[in-house]
Amino acid sequence: CDNISIAIDGPAGAGKSTISKLVAKKLNIEYVDTGAMYRAFTLKLLEEKIDLTDEFKILEELKNTSIDFIDGHIYLDSKIVDKQIRDNIVSQNVSNIAKIKEVREGMIKLQRKIAEGKDIIMDGRDIGTVVLPNAKFKFFIIASIEERAKRRYKDLIKKEEKNISLEKVKKEIEKRDKIDSTRAIAPLKKSVDAIEIDTTNKSVNECVKLIVDIVEGR
Ligand code: C5P
Repeated sequence: CDNISIAIDGPAGAGKSTISKLVAKKLNIEYVDTGAMYRAFTLKLLEEKIDLTDEFKILEELKNTSIDFIDGHIYLDSKIVDKQIRDNIVSQNVSNIAKIKEVREGMIKLQRKIAEGKDIIMDGRDIGTVVLPNAKFKFFIIASIEERAKRRYKDLIKKEEKNISLEKVKKEIEKRDKIDSTRAIAPLKKSVDAIEIDTTNKSVNECVKLIVDIVEGR
């Protein structure tokens, strides 16, 4: 098939979504944020006050939840939740929900359906390895833990999150990366055929250009 498909994976705060959105714009293709889907379901569990250690209740809830990603917006039961899913409480809990087999199966099905027959750039943790193993282009975006913590800290300050410090953000990111990269199903890892980009000392535009040039065959 002749569609452009770009898989972007990497740890939290490496710049995946910022870069992917801009690449999508440049190439006039669709951007899909798969992390937003796991975040939306986690948000629902928090809103419904479900015990996050009770897998049975979580899976019951999953059956009664509809999630979609349309035109850059994340929908939870037909309601747009773009802003709510970025709350730190969601970030703190999402990895423990995303490691559940049935949760991943549901999301992967949806992600593949969205990607079908379209020019697409999709970012997450397992896109190049599991969701779109045949993607034409695969990138693995990384940055130092210090740099990633700084970026997330700035985001949270802007959102006026309380009780936050750079050190705390760093610990939370490290914890999330550890859960994401050591889970049994579809762990975060570089696909063997992915190109690694370290964004620590690169501007956003440099990274975007790097990817666009490769995709356009320069
Ligand atoms: O990309 P973002 O940081 O918003 O992702 C939130 C969380 O969702 C990740 O830490 C991970 O636990 C989960 N996730 C995943 N697989 C993906 C995308 C996100 O497990 N493809």
